[in-house]
Amino acid sequence: MEPSNPIVPQSGVGKRMCIVGASGKLGRYMVRHALDRGYEVVGVCREKSVPKLADYADRITVIGGDTNDREVIAKAVEGCDAVLAVLVPWGVHDYSSGTARAVLDYAKPGARLVFSCGWHITRDGKDVYSWKIKAALVVAKLFRYLRLVDVDDQYRATDLIFSSDTRWTVVRGSDLEEGPSEGLPVWARHVGDPVLESNMTRRTDFALFMVEAVTDDSLVQEAPAIVGRRTPSALAHTKESA
Ligand SMILES: NC(=O)c1ccc[n+]([C@@H]2O[C@H](COP(=O)([O-])OP(=O)(O)OC[C@H]3O[C@@H](n4cnc5c(N)ncnc54)[C@H](OP(=O)(O)O)[C@@H]3O)[C@@H](O)[C@H]2O)c1
Repeated sequence: MEPSNPIVPQSGVGKRMCIVGASGKLGRYMVRHALDRGYEVVGVCREKSVPKLADYADRITVIGGDTNDREVIAKAVEGCDAVLAVLVPWGVHDYSSGTARAVLDYAKPGARLVFSCGWHITRDGKDVYSWKIKAALVVAKLFRYLRLVDVDDQYRATDLIFSSDTRWTVVRGSDLEEGPSEGLPVWARHVGDPVLESNMTRRTDFALFMVEAVTDDSLVQEAPAIVGRRTPSALAHTKESA
């Protein structure tokens, strides 16, 4: 006879997940969602940011080091069933592409690899951008000359991922805001889809999407562009009512 109150294991129990960029705003939300789902978590962040993970010190393994340092990544992803990596365009030292290349090279065969970036990344050139997004990109590209930001390196990073035969997902975030969760964001294959029009996602839900993507095989080798599920455009173009 079935027990009346069976213990249902959470999705990640017994599984090891590496979170690269764990000390950032998105990273810390991902750590929380991963722990809530029973994953054993290894977090990677710059040495100077290790204290930002102090709240989780007794619950996760933290490896300090630059995320584009191949030795750091090789050690961190060892034995991990999933790797979530935050791709950021900071600096002009190939930080994004170095991080992506190291993850692709060292993650164990068959591991789920989930990367974050923004809507500006396009896989097939079929995304349709508003003038606001285009203008923001022009400004971001100008920061290359101040040696602060290198958006082109994020393109190099995602081109590496798109041409890889690993089990990757590239999650493309809309503009982000803080606030309590509204649930799992909705997604479309291309920016320009009316469901994305509101261009806003809670950062905690972006993180939720990253973690949930690990167990969603329909997202393997997809680059979903996401938007908050309670935004006006999502409500207008999905079956969910307000
Ligand atoms: N912000 C947005 O509106 C927005 C919109 C769409 C998509 N996204 C995407 O969402 C993800 C997270 O973005 P976020 O804005 O929320 O930021 P975030 O989570 O706070 O992440 C910033 C990350 O960059 C690292 N970082 C900061 N300065 C750095 C530097 N000079 N050199 C190397 N690493 C540095 C941080 O590490 P430390 O903890 O060590 O500082 C942290 O891991 C990114 O993939 C981004 O492309 C963001």
